[in-house]
Amino acid sequence: MAETLRDVADRHGVRIGAAVAADPLRTDYQYRDALGEFNAVTTENALKMGPLCPSEHEYDFRDADVIVDFAREHDMYLRGHTLVWHNQLPEWLLPWQYTDAELRRLLRQHVRTVAGRYAGTIDAWDVVNEAVADDGGLRETPWLRAFGEEYIDRAFEWARKVAPEATLFYNDYGADAINDKSDEIYELLSGMLERGVPIDGVGLQYHALHDHVDPVSVAENVRRFSDLGLDVQITEMDVAYTAATAPPDRREQQAEYYGEVVERCLEAGCDTFVVWGVADHHSWLPHFDETLTEDPLLLDDGYDHKPAYDAVRDALE
Ligand code: G3I
Repeated sequence: MAETLRDVADRHGVRIGAAVAADPLRTDYQYRDALGEFNAVTTENALKMGPLCPSEHEYDFRDADVIVDFAREHDMYLRGHTLVWHNQLPEWLLPWQYTDAELRRLLRQHVRTVAGRYAGTIDAWDVVNEAVADDGGLRETPWLRAFGEEYIDRAFEWARKVAPEATLFYNDYGADAINDKSDEIYELLSGMLERGVPIDGVGLQYHALHDHVDPVSVAENVRRFSDLGLDVQITEMDVAYTAATAPPDRREQQAEYYGEVVERCLEAGCDTFVVWGVADHHSWLPHFDETLTEDPLLLDDGYDHKPAYDAVRDALE
């Protein structure tokens, strides 16, 4: 029996994970078997407010529990994604229909309910996701409107109170290398640490789509967050190309890139890598941008190993 990514990662005390959806976990044996390659999982959609809350006073944890139970049964590190986000909010939540005070109460109740339910079960939470705007400053979200900037601090405090053992992360995209956005996040998190806000880590999503940032700069970015005393995790990695201009040897180039990123980030102190999907046909990308190639992950749509799989395994080794 060939060694799995998990065997190699376990041997070196690092984590290799995948974003997981409830439906294929319920129905697809190959999907469940493929998860044997990983020692970590992130709930892709099941723990977002929209999927969790069919109506204002109702929670449906069935999808989340399918993933949580699987992770527990297979002794996998479990990342809950995400308590506070501006996307995938419930359809009934029309923010303008609520006063600021009602929104503040609603968010507090949500974070305490969800993080509290999985206290001692979920190892890490993406407490706040994508709060920094692409052009600087904080993103204009209903939460910023209702609280002002302090909603970020409050969310981490609520989560720590109800789930004291969970590691609490700020998670964002487009901030993998040193750039204006990662500078902004660095300032945000430094301020939170200075205020004594209970934040433990930063998640760099690493969606490498049309252009691929320099892994050397990413490693530098990892180092500076580590130097703040934060855990740094690569939380949503996928590597795609503009289909029209993709190189003929793109699968080999993809492998090389995955390998270099994992290697350099490991060296810089990152110990957790999550790819955003189990196999290519489960990727979000085709629904997001049809100009991209559709094979951004480590396993192909037959769950077979791609060159990227081998490159990551070698890098973990
Ligand atoms: O569950 C419904 C289903 O009932 C309905 O029939 C179907 C068609 O409308 O939609 C289904 O919901 C979809 C959901 O994925 C589950 O498949 C939503 O439309 C779709 O928008 C949603 O996309 C997710 C996306 O976040 C939403 O922004 C992707 O799966 C998910 O991979 C993606 O993940 C995000 C991270 O959470 C944060 N970082 C960026 C990353 C990529 O956008």
